[in-house]
Amino acid sequence: MPDRAPTREQVIAALDAVRDPKTGQGLVAAGLVQGLTVADDRAGFVMEVPAGETALYAPVRDAAEAALKAIPGMARVSVVLTAETAPASKPARTASLSPQAVNQNRPKAPVPTDRPAHVRRVLAIASGKGGVGKSTVAVNLAAALAARGLSVGVLDADVYGPSLPTMTGVSGKPEYRDGMMQPHLAHGLKLMSVGLLTAATDAMIWRGPMASQAVTQMLTQTRWGTEAEPLDVLVVDLPPGTGDVQLTLIQKTPLDGAVIVSTPQEVALADARRAHVLFQKVGVPTLGLIENMSGDVFGQGGAEAEAGRLGVPFLGDLPLDAALREAGDAGRPLVSADPDGAMARRFAVVAARVADVLGV
Ligand SMILES: Nc1ncnc2c1ncn2[C@@H]1O[C@H](COP(=O)(O)OP(=O)(O)O)[C@@H](O)[C@H]1O
Ligand SMILES: [Mg+2]
Repeated sequence: MPDRAPTREQVIAALDAVRDPKTGQGLVAAGLVQGLTVADDRAGFVMEVPAGETALYAPVRDAAEAALKAIPGMARVSVVLTAETAPASKPARTASLSPQAVNQNRPKAPVPTDRPAHVRRVLAIASGKGGVGKSTVAVNLAAALAARGLSVGVLDADVYGPSLPTMTGVSGKPEYRDGMMQPHLAHGLKLMSVGLLTAATDAMIWRGPMASQAVTQMLTQTRWGTEAEPLDVLVVDLPPGTGDVQLTLIQKTPLDGAVIVSTPQEVALADARRAHVLFQKVGVPTLGLIENMSGDVFGQGGAEAEAGRLGVPFLGDLPLDAALREAGDAGRPLVSADPDGAMARRFAVVAARVADVLGV
């Protein structure tokens, strides 16, 4: 820690020395600096630009980052470039590609959502509570879907605790090319994480609107697929819980379905119920419940009974398994590290059901 931490005034002055190419004004004066956070040796903000102009502003974002890094004592800098949501008058590109089975009762999305280009289905993995294995399921289910020959991506939108980099062993800022971020490639998956965009991933920096802006950016400005080779399924690892951040995220994300992960404990189950109600509210079908860490410690069968009460499918249970944890810690999802193992077979069953209902 330096003797004197950078001040907010220094940060604003540095940002105003960078010019908005359209108005010629400094960035702050031009209204391009939103949600500015200055904390100790860190600073970050969101630069929201008109839809379609992110390519124009990518160099400006880089210049802003460079200007902030040049401030003495500044260690970590994060500028998230994001496009404004299309105006409400524009027809929202909603889930027109979804199969009838998934989409038939879907009410109109209350907020216009941007569907990522060349992505056929978007699947959310959610939980009412943290630590229940949501990310473990997201990554291994993605690997199991890929093992079916599908083209699969994972978007780690868990602004509270992004774990995709650790679980898959990827690191480094994504490359920005033609106005689009290139996902990392590992284990046959296309990967993007809020944890790759910035080192400063504190909940403090990723509050409310900033969180959903960052997620919208990762969703719509990542080259998930191309016209010739679309992505079949994008698995989105949502932040745990059922609060405002989650609500905004699921409203803004064009989800074709959600899988809820729960442990057998009653506490976690009550949270799983709340997660299901949240998805119902916004018209996203819950494709099913997965019981994780099933076994002696927490009991067994709670999620299956709960799925019955909620009227949603039970997708299966995953036992407590040290190998699953170790593989995650080592940066290699167990399903790809041991594709013929018992755990991979369980995930294959879940993947088959999910692929079936998603129609991929
Ligand atoms: N079935 C399981 N058996 C053993 N360890 C597990 C299992 N599922 C998850 N874990 C471990 O529990 C911890 C929390 O899991 P994680 O997927 O990060 O949860 P969340 O994303 O819900 O916070 C991780 O260390 C993970 O490796
Ligand atoms: Mg997680």
